[in-house]
Amino acid sequence: MNLKKMAGYEAAKEVEDGQVVGLGTGSTTHYFIEKLGMRIKEEGIQVLGIPTSYQSFFLAKEWNIPVTSLEEHDVDIAIDGADEIDPELNLIKGGGAAHTLEKIVDYAADRFIVIADDSKVVKKLGKTPVPLEVLSSSSRMVLQALDDLGATGKIRMAQMKDGPVITDHGNFVIDADFGLLEDPCELEIVLNSIPGVLENGIFSGVVDQAIIGSDEGIKKISPK
Ligand code: A5P
Repeated sequence: MNLKKMAGYEAAKEVEDGQVVGLGTGSTTHYFIEKLGMRIKEEGIQVLGIPTSYQSFFLAKEWNIPVTSLEEHDVDIAIDGADEIDPELNLIKGGGAAHTLEKIVDYAADRFIVIADDSKVVKKLGKTPVPLEVLSSSSRMVLQALDDLGATGKIRMAQMKDGPVITDHGNFVIDADFGLLEDPCELEIVLNSIPGVLENGIFSGVVDQAIIGSDEGIKKISPK
């Protein structure tokens, strides 16, 4: 089986009848949402989903998963993907430019499970640049601040549109390359103190469990 599908389908088993579920974004959570939709149809479980992007909202609709918002409900469990996962289960997220709302929903959840194939598991975060969602008018100032911190920042360009990626919230994304991260927890705080940065893609100390799909089967990892 596709390793992302393996992780996504396994995670769907963790959802209990009656729960409010944070619906992450990306190609791995795509499978999670699909399987959750199947459970609703086949087992008749009742859940409410809180989407973290237009992508997960549309998928929830496709699978007849009723949706709600953080204004109306607390989050019992959130399931989300990642671009990198370290041994402490700190993450880099935001490859799909959805990390701001993902962070709000994932951090609000009573239980947060990250799902991925084993290519995402690293000894140290930082091979992937850290995405920052920034107010477009602050881009030059943010790039300057990143330079001062010793990082190389680049405005993310769109693939099927001329010019920059525009997030679901109408902002730019700057990918900041720091090399390998010595202290992700500290950097998460520092980056959010740059004026104009709305949120960064480091998720530290928040994951309760990782469900990893690998050729040897499913691995369930707790934070060290
Ligand atoms: C969305 O912005 C990201 O945080 C994704 O959750 C992350 O990039 C993982 O995506 P895949 O499951 O597609 O690898």
